[in-house]
Amino acid sequence: MSRLAAGQRHTIQFTLNGKPCGGEAEPRMLLTDFLRHQIGATGTHVGCEHGVCGACTVEVDGKLARACLTLAVQAEGCAVRTVEGLAPASGRLSILQAAFKRNHALQCGFCTAGILMSLDHFLRETPQPSEQEVRDLLTGHLCRCTGYTPIVYAAMEAAAEMDGDRSGEKSDA
Ligand code: FES
Ligand code: FES
Repeated sequence: MSRLAAGQRHTIQFTLNGKPCGGEAEPRMLLTDFLRHQIGATGTHVGCEHGVCGACTVEVDGKLARACLTLAVQAEGCAVRTVEGLAPASGRLSILQAAFKRNHALQCGFCTAGILMSLDHFLRETPQPSEQEVRDLLTGHLCRCTGYTPIVYAAMEAAAEMDGDRSGEKSDA
């Protein structure tokens, strides 16, 4: 990244959930602020603003990131994925989102976007997780409503369904 002058605004461009987007950002602007206030992508929530609660979790170039610890200019040229990108189509829920709905795995929903992003990433990498692995993952997220048990149930149910889909695809091939 070239040297950026404080106070000066810079044009940044990246893809957000597969679509090109961009705008102007001062060097110290956080990715959370850019997403929420510059381009109106308010699905990413902001809780602690210092990397602890996990509410702001997004994916940047395939890796999970705390958007409150990421500068907007660091997203330049990257592929950013947020909770708005989880649903397969407008009006439909992903397997994980549907499992959250069935299991009542959210109360106020403040932590939900970040937890969905972490679980979505985790379940793609860990097709058959143990309940303990899911619980370990959730240690990176604070749910102030403390509804962790239904979140674990939803994650395990989604993992089983996603694994079943993958097995079905293999046997159809
Ligand atoms: S708002 Fe980013 S981790 Fe809490
Ligand atoms: S559902 Fe309220 S903070 Fe988690």
